[in-house]
Amino acid sequence: MTPIQSRRRLLRQLSGVGVLALASPWHQALAALIPTPEQTAGPFRPLRPLESDADLTMVKGAKAHADGQIIQVTGRVLDVDGKPIRGAAVELWQANARGRYNHPRDVNPEPLDPNFQGYARVLTDDDGRYRFKTVKPGAYPINPMNPNAVRTPHIHFDIAGKRTHLVTQMYFPGEKLNASDRIFSAMGENGATTIARLLPPTGDMASSEMHFGWDIVLA
Ligand SMILES: [Fe+2]
Repeated sequence: MTPIQSRRRLLRQLSGVGVLALASPWHQALAALIPTPEQTAGPFRPLRPLESDADLTMVKGAKAHADGQIIQVTGRVLDVDGKPIRGAAVELWQANARGRYNHPRDVNPEPLDPNFQGYARVLTDDDGRYRFKTVKPGAYPINPMNPNAVRTPHIHFDIAGKRTHLVTQMYFPGEKLNASDRIFSAMGENGATTIARLLPPTGDMASSEMHFGWDIVLA
């Protein structure tokens, strides 16, 4: 394997995301990671979140956990050269396990979950890593007149690096609704970079928890 091939393989392994294809071997040495596509923030960004810690499954003072499949999402924030961005602010928000946002504009008749935080803000560490614990969000209808118009499960992200800022969404692997989701489909083949990978739980996760990995590349 040539040094150039090694570098490209390393970049893929480092990120789990695609590498821009460049034609000549000389250009391959400059191969860069594909920036994570920008996507809409949608209408349900929390107005005044009660809490912002990295565990969305517990709300202060509540006696029970949030309903749903508990998941942990881990990953890194990188630049296009694969270098980690430390100290990036990663904000995220999502629907609960029944597909309902805690937002006054959400008219989904599914119930709110009083034990679900719905929002978090975390900072990446020196290796650009972030991590949070939540429940898998449910799919939700987007048009009461059309029962087939449904958003596939997703988590909204707003990532602020030192000089860059990205609003996007993360999706789950193997979801049937991904293919028919209009926001996901609008990204074309770059949409693949927004699907998390299912990973084995690490030693500090409960065996019942699912672990998803997703790296974010800032342009
Ligand atoms: Fe959403």
